[in-house]
Amino acid sequence: MKNMKSDKRNKKKLFIRTFGCQMNVYDSETLADLFFLRNILLTDNMGEADIVFVNTCSVREKAEQKACSFIGRLQRFKLKKPNLIVAVGGCMGQRMGETLPERFPFVDIVVGTDTFYYLPELVERYRTSGKKLVQLEFSREFPRLPLVKECVSGQVTAMVTIMQGCDNFCTYCIVPYVRGREKSRPSSDIVREIQELTSKGVKEVTLLGQNVNSYGLKDGDITFPELLRLIARETDLLRLRFTTSHPKDLSEDLMKCFHDLEILCKHIHLPVQAGSNKILRLMNRRYTREEYLQKVRKLREYCPEIAISTDVMVGFPGEEEADYLDTLRLLEEVRFDTVFSFKYSDRPGTAAASFRGKVPEKVKTRRLIQLQELQNKITLEQNEKLVGTVQEVLVAGTSKADERQLTGRTGDNHIVNFYGPRNLIGELVPVTIVEAYAHSLKGELPLVGEFSREKDQCVICR
Ligand code: 5AD
Ligand code: SF4
Repeated sequence: MKNMKSDKRNKKKLFIRTFGCQMNVYDSETLADLFFLRNILLTDNMGEADIVFVNTCSVREKAEQKACSFIGRLQRFKLKKPNLIVAVGGCMGQRMGETLPERFPFVDIVVGTDTFYYLPELVERYRTSGKKLVQLEFSREFPRLPLVKECVSGQVTAMVTIMQGCDNFCTYCIVPYVRGREKSRPSSDIVREIQELTSKGVKEVTLLGQNVNSYGLKDGDITFPELLRLIARETDLLRLRFTTSHPKDLSEDLMKCFHDLEILCKHIHLPVQAGSNKILRLMNRRYTREEYLQKVRKLREYCPEIAISTDVMVGFPGEEEADYLDTLRLLEEVRFDTVFSFKYSDRPGTAAASFRGKVPEKVKTRRLIQLQELQNKITLEQNEKLVGTVQEVLVAGTSKADERQLTGRTGDNHIVNFYGPRNLIGELVPVTIVEAYAHSLKGELPLVGEFSREKDQCVICR
């Protein structure tokens, strides 16, 4: 998140540490805006903060362990600065509620996934009363957010949440419990926010939701494909992305958007989770392996060059070697561009936590390593196919590893690093791919002569 530091030293300072998904990052940005409206500014130096907010994730056990270890370390800061206010929010805040200050007595305020918007008021209340506060209720509607968007100034890409919560209750997943029921944001608010972002220089937006395909179906004014078309019509974005899609709700109308809408990046994240029908049934995913493969085929018919990424899990309760091999076969069949893979972990309160047939940790680890080896090979082969091609890259900034290099993404979501002048930041530039690695590509700017033949104007020397 970009810093909103100001040299007005007398202002109070807020430090935010965010764990977890992009939606948590977006929530943290929103919170920073809400504090900004009250003259409390973001700092990236925890030592000078008056308020520390930890935005947490609960999706896997490891994510909670990471957040808890960070929270534990705050005790030292609180001892040094007794007036420091420590607040915890996000999915683990929602799940653990009152038990958080019991476990960590220096935590002053706990908010949930819908109540973090109240944190600036709660901080005020805490300052006057000195009483610990825990506020966790879910709201039925998507909140109306302020259009400050301070955090994104200077950024080329940004995120916009379009829906929250989930009604699917996959048996392994804690999200429906910690994010509540699905609620869609009014399309006019989404469009206004994107217009505000583009006026601040943002060129690419990723729409966020746990299950964007069901946007608007329950409580919205339009469907998701209609929203995409509306954004394409009403805003000046160069690029639009979205995540995450549930395969069961992936409609043909949405597939058509990849063909019809120029600003829609040709990439979809379509979590499959497992390749065995037995496991998919136990997970309550409500599609079969065959249905998933059929949707992938259809997508590729509408848009042959689409990149597909996915999430898979190994070691779900009841997963036998044959089920696991079905997942490997599916990876070989689909040839995803990227796969995010996880060992299943029990989440308290979910149905799968009480399933029989738990898979030993050692077996899970072996399966995960093998699966990742297979996928690394496939990803590298997919990336190598791009060597020698010219890809359009939206330049997002300089590379962290080498300041002299620029970095950006292709429409199909590959990271490309290449040498070039900084005035290309924010531009869509054609880049020749010269080398492929497991997680990124090395590019080169085409020779200026070649470049100007392609387009009338050269963005490098203009
Ligand atoms: N254990 C392991 N991985 C999980 N995920 C969700 N719940 C669990 C769990 N209990 C993974 C899924 C999901 C991704 C965000 O996290 O693959 O798509
Ligand atoms: Fe969790 Fe399933 Fe909802 Fe995704 S669709 S958030 S995996 S319950």
